[in-house]
Amino acid sequence: MSDWNSDAYSKFSALRLRPAVDLLMKVPPLVGDEITDLGCGNGAVGPVLRTRFPKARIAGLDSSPAMLEDAWKTGAYDALTEGDIAKWRPETPPALIYSNAALHWLPNHATLLPELAGHLAPGGTLAVQMPHQNSAPSHRLWIDLVDQHFPGRYDPDQTPGILDARTTYDLLDPLGHLTLWETEYMQRLDPATDAHPVRLFTSSTFARPVLNTLDADEQGLITRLYDEAMELAYPRRADDSVLFPFRRLFFILTRP
Ligand SMILES: C[S@@+](CC[C@H](N)C(=O)[O-])C[C@H]1O[C@@H](n2cnc3c(N)ncnc32)[C@H](O)[C@@H]1O
Repeated sequence: MSDWNSDAYSKFSALRLRPAVDLLMKVPPLVGDEITDLGCGNGAVGPVLRTRFPKARIAGLDSSPAMLEDAWKTGAYDALTEGDIAKWRPETPPALIYSNAALHWLPNHATLLPELAGHLAPGGTLAVQMPHQNSAPSHRLWIDLVDQHFPGRYDPDQTPGILDARTTYDLLDPLGHLTLWETEYMQRLDPATDAHPVRLFTSSTFARPVLNTLDADEQGLITRLYDEAMELAYPRRADDSVLFPFRRLFFILTRP
C-alpha cells in the first residue's frame, strides 16, 4: 500500500490539531518524565506536547517513514522510531502514553487497549482520541460505492474502526481512573473547486486503503461519484464552504 502523504494530511492541520489539544488539556500532572506518542505521524502534536511537558523525554512511534521524516523536522521529539504499535513494548514504562487519531487503524481493541494500559508506569496515564465517524456519509460512502461498482475488491472488515463508547468504558473502567467522552466537531471546510471539500479531508486518511484497491481509472469513477454524493450529504453554504460534522471518542485512563 502507498505510504501516507504528509502534505495532504496537513491540509487541515488546524481542524485535526484541535481534538489533539482538547485531549492533552485533560491529561493530569504526570508521575514521571517519559512520554510516548503512539502513531505520532508527521509530529503535528509534538510541539504541543513539548510546550505542556517541557522537561519530559518525548518518544514518537509510527509505521510511516514519510510521516516520521516530517516528525523529525518539528524538533519536538527526543526519539522517533519506525514500528508497529501492536508490537510496541517500551524499554521504560512511560508516565504518559498519548495517541491521537491513530489507534483506530489497529484491530482487536478489546485486547489492544488493556495491553497498552499495562505498559504504563504505576500511576501513569493512557490518553487516546479516535475518530468515531464510520457510519457517517463521509466514511460509509467510500465503502458503499466501491462495493457497488467493484464488488469484492475492498474487504470492509479491514476498515479501521473502534468499539462503541459504552463497551470501551466497561473494558477500561476496572483498570484505573477513567474519563471517557465523545465530541462532534462542527468543522467548516473552505470552498474548493477541484473536489468536494469533504473528499479533500477524507482522501488522505480514511479513503487511502479503499482507493488503494483500485486502478487510476477506477479511482476516477469512484471519486466523481463520491463528490456527487457529498454535494447532497454536506451541501455548500452561501459562500461555498461546507459544514462537516465529525465525531470523535476520547478517553483518559490513569492507573492506580
Ligand atoms: C491520522 S495520522 C495521526 C498522526 C498524529 N497522531 C496526529 O495527530 O497528527 C495516523 C498515523 O497512525 C500511523 N499508524 C497507523 N497504524 C499504525 C500502526 N499499526 N503502528 C504505528 N503507526 C500506525 C500512521 O502511519 C499515521 O501516521
